[in-house]
This record gives sequence, structure tokens and C-alpha cells, in this order.
Amino acid sequence: MTVSAETTSADAPPAAHPYDPFIAAMGAVATGVTVVATDGETGRFAQTVSAMCSVSADPRLVLVCINSRSPINEAIRTNGVFTVNVLGSQHDHVADTFAGRPWPGKDPWDFSCGEWEQAPSGSPRIRDAVASFDCSIHQVVEAGTHQIHIGLVTSVETHGGEPLIYSAQTYAKPLPVPPSVFDDYPGSGPTYRKNTDGTNTKENAK
Ligand SMILES: Cc1cc2nc3c(=O)[nH]c(=O)nc-3n(C[C@H](O)[C@H](O)[C@H](O)COP(=O)(O)O)c2cc1C
Repeated sequence: MTVSAETTSADAPPAAHPYDPFIAAMGAVATGVTVVATDGETGRFAQTVSAMCSVSADPRLVLVCINSRSPINEAIRTNGVFTVNVLGSQHDHVADTFAGRPWPGKDPWDFSCGEWEQAPSGSPRIRDAVASFDCSIHQVVEAGTHQIHIGLVTSVETHGGEPLIYSAQTYAKPLPVPPSVFDDYPGSGPTYRKNTDGTNTKENAK
């Protein structure tokens, strides 16, 4: 279809966003939510990022993927350091604020939202994050619309608590799933012994 100049005038209704099966499928994925933050000669920047994962245990590497349109990419490259703050379920408003959707009374990217302290690298760190990784840049890879920042983890803070989850454009929190039961194999599922450090050990996996 050809769209004439008349139909794209200011009076025309906005074009519907085309359905993208990739975007729709990614929306069904459940992720944790982090705020990536940096400070240094650029001043403070922070952005909400769900595309974060562990890369390597030795050396300790994590990665975050950030849209190339975001000014935090340049700030991270200039400062050479950043933190990755894993949000808790109490941080939904922090996630929105650093995604440019501030809650009433807050500005977008308003650092008065959340309690911040300085990590050893000089980057801001959220005091009550479930976990916080302080990083120096190991590598930056350009991939399509995004930049992948691979960080060498220089210090780690862990505070525990319930991690914030994001799926289907909704914030959620984890709920344990009881093991599946199969009538033909009663008692065949694994049982777990709770260890004193809070971890579980599988006892009778078959
Ligand atoms: C829960 C959540 C997760 C997000 N994850 C990412 C991400 O992994 N990478 C990214 O570049 N943007 C991500 N965004 C979007 C950016 O935070 C947002 O686009 C950015 O702050 C700029 O805002 P603007 O698009 O309104 O200018 C996420 C937003 C939300 C609410």
C-alpha cells in the first residue's frame, strides 16, 4: 500500500505498531530486573536493564545489553566502570524511574528514588539491592540495536530478599513450584534437604 502525504499529516491517527513475533515471544520470558549505574567524569547515569546474565566464573564476568540509543553506553565507556544492581520486589518504582517512567513526585532517572551508596569503583550502588556487582569494563560488543557491556566483577555485595521478576510487562515475585507428581512413578521425584546456609541438596534423584 502506498501512503500519501495527506494520510501522514499531523491529523492522521498514529500508525499501529506492527506485530513482531520476536518481541512478543521475548515478552513471555521471565527475567530478573537490574539497574545498571555508572559515575565518573560523565556524572551519574543509571538505567533499568533486564538483559543481564553471568558469563564466566573465572574470571568473574557478567554482561548487560543496552540499546545503543541510551546515553549510558557512552558514559560507561568513558568512566570504564559500572555496577549491576539486582532489584528486590520492593524496587518496582526504582525500575520504572530508571526506565524513564517515574512515579508521581519523581523525575525520570531521579537518584532520590532508592538508597544509593558509592561502590569501590566510584559507581553508584543500591544499598538494599538483592545483589550488586561492581565492574570494570572487560569488553564492549556492538550487536544489532544494542551494545553488550561485559564487566569484570571487582566486588560483590549480597543482601538477600525477594528478587523482582519481569514478565508479560508485569512485575512479579518468585513463588516456589511443588515438584511434579506422576502416578506411574510415585515418589520418583527428587527430594531436597535444606542446608544450614539456605541452599538445598538433592537427596534421591533417579
Ligand atoms: C523491566 C524493564 C526492563 C528493561 N530492560 C532493558 C534492557 O535490558 N536493555 C535496554 O536497553 N533497555 C531496557 N529497558 C528499557 C529502558 O530502561 C528504557 O528504554 C530506557 O531507560 C530509556 O527510556 P526511553 O525509552 O523512555 O527513552 C527496560 C525497561 C524495563 C521497564
